Amino acid sequence: MKTLSNIFAEVLSRYGEHVDKKLEDYLSRMCNREFIEVILYQVKTGGKRIRPVMTLLFTEALGEEFTKALPEACVVELIHEYSLIFDDIIDHSVVRRGKPTLWKKFGMNFAILAGLWYREAIEEAILESVNPSLVAKLASETMRDIIEGERLDILLEASGREDPYYLEQRIISRLSRETIDQIYLEMIRKKTAALFKLSCMLGALAARKMIDDYVKAAATYGENVGIAFQLIDDLLDIYGEFEKFGKEIGKDVKEHKLGNAVIVNILKNGKQEDVEKVLEILTKNNISEEDVKTVIEIADKYGSREKVLEEASRYVDLAVKAISMFPESEFKRKLIDIAKFVVYREY
Ligand code: IPE
Ligand code: IPE
Ligand code: MG
Ligand code: MG
Ligand code: MG
Repeated sequence: MKTLSNIFAEVLSRYGEHVDKKLEDYLSRMCNREFIEVILYQVKTGGKRIRPVMTLLFTEALGEEFTKALPEACVVELIHEYSLIFDDIIDHSVVRRGKPTLWKKFGMNFAILAGLWYREAIEEAILESVNPSLVAKLASETMRDIIEGERLDILLEASGREDPYYLEQRIISRLSRETIDQIYLEMIRKKTAALFKLSCMLGALAARKMIDDYVKAAATYGENVGIAFQLIDDLLDIYGEFEKFGKEIGKDVKEHKLGNAVIVNILKNGKQEDVEKVLEILTKNNISEEDVKTVIEIADKYGSREKVLEEASRYVDLAVKAISMFPESEFKRKLIDIAKFVVYREY
């Protein structure tokens, strides 16, 4: 029997090379020969390419050749890479995909320049899409959502930053059990789900050329898969294996993040004393491996791991339901399998 990750690998082998070649094309334009190594590093470290895979599956599910939507596929992957370059700076992350992050490898100043370069490469790809003015508008709205999501993510940190704006606006000072899950959901809807939504919409749009019921269904699928994707990313951050996940385990706790699904689950359901203990740890200046273990013990007490998994599965069910109106095809079946892969993945 084929596993879900086999199915994902199979789809990726169909599209991967085409996407990577085009990404390199957009990124290389006008680039100084001596800077190209820095620019291409981010895409060459690997990555699942799950967003462009979804774009191209939607195009094929609606009867169009996938090559037509390669610029759209690159738009979403470039937005993803662009957001990662800055996210790793913001999160002080030194390893991604099992390799040094861009800022760690080449230094902060060149990482910032590379990030800005990605923003312009996105524009190159938009100009070659089927409907550039519509794609430009949707892409810009998505990038502003990501920025807002990242702003909320930072403000949901319990401590560890000196920025005056953070000290004034951080959410911990007005935190309540009643609202923490809503703020968290808004944050991940923007920082992560918005781009999955765009990825699916652009794939459908390349085939349909204007927003219609199919494009709307693709958007609903993408948004729900995107929420599930971030829930599982949060889970893997705490319970994953470094060799598979490629990112440091326990990083969100060490970065004082209340905006992790497992932490939110404790804050929502834990006894007062456990909530206080978790908040005490997340507010510490230096959070140790021992502290991370304590947080995991408390999470285990409330079955937080299982609860987050169940929640992610519910979002995937909503995603699958959204595309039930699509004509039956191998591509539709793959979209269903990939939505399930998002929950069961280990990387
Ligand atoms: C990581 O996304 C960022 C999140 C939204 C959690 P991916 O897990 O898709 O990253 P790569 O591209 O495969 O490394
Ligand atoms: C998602 O948040 C990142 C973006 C939307 C850019 P994370 O901070 O959890 O992503 P990772 O874990 O660093 O990949
Ligand atoms: Mg991060
Ligand atoms: Mg982050
Ligand atoms: Mg994460």
